[in-house]
This record gives sequence, structure tokens and C-alpha cells, in this order.
Amino acid sequence: MTQDELKQAAAQAALDYVEEGSIVGVGTGSTANHFIDGLARMKDRIAGAVASSEASAERLARHGIRLFDLNDVNAMPVYVDGADEIDSSLAMIKGGGGALTREKIVAAVAGRFICICDESKLVKTMGRFPLPIEVIPMARAQVARELTRLGGKPVLRTGFVTDNGNMILDVHGLSITDPVGLETSLNQIVGVVTNGLFARRGADILLLATTRGVERHSRATQ
Ligand code: A5P
Repeated sequence: MTQDELKQAAAQAALDYVEEGSIVGVGTGSTANHFIDGLARMKDRIAGAVASSEASAERLARHGIRLFDLNDVNAMPVYVDGADEIDSSLAMIKGGGGALTREKIVAAVAGRFICICDESKLVKTMGRFPLPIEVIPMARAQVARELTRLGGKPVLRTGFVTDNGNMILDVHGLSITDPVGLETSLNQIVGVVTNGLFARRGADILLLATTRGVERHSRATQ
């Protein structure tokens, strides 16, 4: 199986978690795109979706899936999204596609975070994938200095502007042994909008596509 076929298998498995008549939180990226395409096949059985990016909103709209503004939604049973890395506690690095802030916001409203990944994303210790950090443009240099003090090597993602009009610093060289602690301290740096660690609110369920089938890992059983 190719990596893309594995992503598709994980996305397909997530459709079982979609509740009839509900509003579905939808992530961003190539794995989430497969989920959106699957959701289109059951669009008459859901109320609609909240998108975590302009790109996902466009894809959902092209399929004729009704879009909701998050401010009009009180509850959402599930949020389904991919990850760049995930560890055994179901903490994740996200934001490879630059949508981390909206992803974290939509996920915060959802009852359960269902992470869909191919097996290459499961790691023992996160940090090989550079950690994306969304920053207010005028704070870029100051945030970069703070990140360097913490031992990282921040690199500006050139030619990229987030859906919120901000910049992304990709931080290389971190070995993330305390994801919750690092997420919390990065949030304290003035000028940081969001960091790509999803550890305080990690995934509740991981659907991990392997060549042997889709494995289900639950945070509760960790
Ligand atoms: C988007 O900003 C990211 O958080 C994605 O969820 C992550 O990069 C996974 O993307 P793929 O599904 O394309 O690997």
C-alpha cells in the first residue's frame, strides 16, 4: 500500500465515528482531504461541518456540504484531523499545513478528537518534524530569539501567510520529552498566537493505518 492509500484507509475508518444529524469538525491536510471526500458520500445524513481552514472549507463547499461558523455551534461530537507526528500518549505536532490555530480552536469545541494517520506519523519522541509556531508578524524576530534561548532553531516559513494573516516559524532541533510542559511555556511567549503542540488537548482516539489494517488506539487505555 502507498502512503496515500494508508491515509485514505485511516480517513475511511473515521467515518464510523460521525454521528447522524451532527455537525462535524474537519481538519486540514492530505489525510483530512480524504476524510472530506468520504464525508461527501454521507452528506445527507449530517447537519454540516465546521472547517479548520479556508482550504478545507472550499473542499467541503465543492462537495455541497453545509458549512457552519464555529460561533454558531455550541457542541460538536467529533473533530477529525491528521497530524505531523503523534506519540504514544496521543500528543501531536500539527501545523505542517499552517492551519494549527484554527485546528486547535475547532478541536477545543469538539467532544472527541479523532486523529487519522498513516503509520509513519507515530513516533517515540516528537521533535524530528519541525514544530510550527504561528506568530504575529511584528513579533517574529523577538519570538525567534526566545525560541533560540529554549534550544530550538526557528526558521521562517517563507512565502507563507496563515488564514489569520500571520507568519509561521518552524522550530528545528527540539527533542520533546515533556509535550504538555513545552506547549504551556511556548504559549507564554509574547507574540506567539499558537504553537503546534497538541498535548494539553491531545487526540482521544488514533486511527493508525498500517499495512496490516487500521489500528485503533484510545487515550483512555494509555
Ligand atoms: C495542517 O495544518 C496540519 O496540522 C495537518 O493536520 C498535518 O500537517 C497532517 O497533514 P497530512 O495529512 O497532509 O500529512
